[in-house]
Amino acid sequence: MILYFSGTGNTKFVAEYIADHIGDQCISLNDVLKYKKPLEFHSEKPFVFAAPIYAWGYPRKIEKLIERAKLTGNRRIYFVATMESQTGDCDKMLWRIADRKNMRFMGFCGIPMPNNYVYGGNVPTSGEAEDKITHSLRYLEELACKIETHAYITKIDETPFSSVLSLPVNALFNQFMISSRSFIVSGQCVACGQCVKVCPVNNIRISPGGVPHFGRSCLNCYSCINRCPAEAINIGKRTMRTRRYVCPDYSKWKSSGLID
Ligand SMILES: Cc1cc2nc3c(=O)[nH]c(=O)nc-3n(C[C@H](O)[C@H](O)[C@H](O)COP(=O)(O)O)c2cc1C
Ligand code: SF4
Ligand code: SF4
Repeated sequence: MILYFSGTGNTKFVAEYIADHIGDQCISLNDVLKYKKPLEFHSEKPFVFAAPIYAWGYPRKIEKLIERAKLTGNRRIYFVATMESQTGDCDKMLWRIADRKNMRFMGFCGIPMPNNYVYGGNVPTSGEAEDKITHSLRYLEELACKIETHAYITKIDETPFSSVLSLPVNALFNQFMISSRSFIVSGQCVACGQCVKVCPVNNIRISPGGVPHFGRSCLNCYSCINRCPAEAINIGKRTMRTRRYVCPDYSKWKSSGLID
């Protein structure tokens, strides 16, 4: 069973690729969070969790969800991430979670995917994004094959000084950076409600005047910012000239013949 969380679609793409290649089912943790579905899952095949990397770690909300989830059936657990380029010591943090759940840690692997971190500025063009995804298909093929044969997986990235920096960087990010406090909505907003629909934690509501308002449960997935059709959501002024990014749909890629 592949259980994924995804803000802008990269991790959904990776999860659906793996599910398709090993003939397993895919569960959206976005839906589990948004609709407050029960945290009980049964699988005869190994569990595979997949999530994006935020500041060298899994999103804290997803770590907590995994801690709380009741997993029955198979006792093997894999962790997959999608990243721009660096996963820090995320593997060690997840190993501890598997250990606390008395499950057999089958390894961790981060797959390079296009960057959705609009706040940092270097969001790729659609051509660059397609090239990066195409390049990662070889990692994905190998990863799916290992999971199918119940082999151990290992990470392919290296983060300099991560053994000393990873924990403080991740802790500082989780304490001070995760917030929608500085999100602003420009006059370009057309009150379509798309941001409300895509927010996995129901952190956005539209006021009677038609303006989106942000609450306090943001997990910084950047889905609302990247998926707003009017590019009306910004983080202060900093993202006003930054490109937006949403991953192409896996099934469309497959039907276009870009995946074997
Ligand atoms: C808040 C935030 C923090 C991020 N931090 C990292 C990071 O530490 N390392 C990295 O390689 N990519 C980082 N990224 C990039 C994402 O992990 C990457 O684009 C991922 O594939 C997005 O997945 P999604 O489309 O499933 O949401 C970050 C993105 C966001 C929004
Ligand atoms: S998605 Fe964009 S245009 Fe639509 S309501 Fe939200 S901010 Fe406004
Ligand atoms: S408010 Fe936006 S960035 Fe925050 S969790 Fe919702 S969709 Fe993600």
